[in-house]
Amino acid sequence: MCPEVLMQGRSGLTLFSVIVPIELDFLSRSPRQISVFEVGMTQKRPQGYIAPLALRGRISHAQPKGLPIINMGFNELPFGPSPEVAAAIDEATRNANFYGNPSCQALREELGARNRLNAETIVCGNGSEELLDVIARNFVRAGDEIVIPEFGYIQFAIIANRLGALLTKVPETDLTVDVDGLLAAIGPNTKLLFLANPNNPTATMLPERDLVRLAEEMPRDVVLVIDLAYGEFVSFDYCARVHSLAARFENIVVTRTFSKAYGLAGLRVGWCHAPAWMIPSLYAARGMGSVNAVAQAAALASLREPDLVQARIGQILAERERVADELAALGLKCLSSHTNFMLVTTEDGDPDRAEALVEHLFDDAGIIVNRTREKGLESYIRFSLSRPEHNSLLIQSVARFQA
Ligand SMILES: Cc1ncc(COP(=O)(O)O)c(C=O)c1O
Repeated sequence: MCPEVLMQGRSGLTLFSVIVPIELDFLSRSPRQISVFEVGMTQKRPQGYIAPLALRGRISHAQPKGLPIINMGFNELPFGPSPEVAAAIDEATRNANFYGNPSCQALREELGARNRLNAETIVCGNGSEELLDVIARNFVRAGDEIVIPEFGYIQFAIIANRLGALLTKVPETDLTVDVDGLLAAIGPNTKLLFLANPNNPTATMLPERDLVRLAEEMPRDVVLVIDLAYGEFVSFDYCARVHSLAARFENIVVTRTFSKAYGLAGLRVGWCHAPAWMIPSLYAARGMGSVNAVAQAAALASLREPDLVQARIGQILAERERVADELAALGLKCLSSHTNFMLVTTEDGDPDRAEALVEHLFDDAGIIVNRTREKGLESYIRFSLSRPEHNSLLIQSVARFQA
């Protein structure tokens, strides 16, 4: 899941975004709890271990024209569940008095059959986000080291923070991962290396031959997690070849998700393919019933419509090309994307102008995009490819901004 959650609404509601743990804490406070919280500031209280994440403000005012909000900030698929998936959700909802299968057996069997994998080497989770955390929890303790690329997916850093692990970020070249740098960064305390390929937020991708070299040259006592959240936007064949790495090496885990190409982000289903020896510990590190019955039913139904999934991916890729061409014609620089989202910057690469564009898109068209604030990416904005009509609204609004 994207680390930032946006409270959104039409005019009259305040929009803000904060890092999830803080927001959940904030939202769960009743007025009485708030006063206790405030009084508690001066009293003795327990000391937590996890460093709080910075609270990041975003758009803090209502949509001035009263326009409907179009959220293009979360890398979601813009298409809702198909009738078959919706029917499966309906059916499962009516049986919600029963627990879901704790090991997601039917879903794993279908995943195994469709991906030519042994279902016993698959673990499902509450989004791939949970599995990234579960894998790290199993292999990393406070003081151990996690290595990631400089612009790696932000959850990797959040996980390191949760575990009290040391995080080493390896510099990238042209916003693309440097395999030699990653290999050189691995030291005696390194327990795990996270790599999303393609990556979020850059949308760039390490060429497959370099990924294979990384897999081959990794020390066998360090876990390599290859996050394929956007793998389907490259191709299903690419995903299959990456899975074959996990079948070949005892230290490689591949994570996948139903949140992106399958359009089930709100239901929270992910899965990982790991060497057989790791599976019992991954279950031990995971919550008992973390994938609910409705989510399992929806994911299973979505796997039975591969043509629809492929057609939707095709629509996104076609839009990606159109939007990139049109934005380039308007003077924006678009990084070549291997995902369902794009990273773009203004021609002068001025962070203030990027910020102004974020505000403009919201005020002018009700469109929310994501401002990447990571060091080195301050001048970029990131947005998901949406339905053609929403993409066109974005292009028209950019044209007004650039005029
Ligand atoms: C690279 C990457 N990995 C993993 C995830 C987590 O996805 P989910 O928890 O919805 O499966 C995301 C979500 O944005 C992502 O961008």
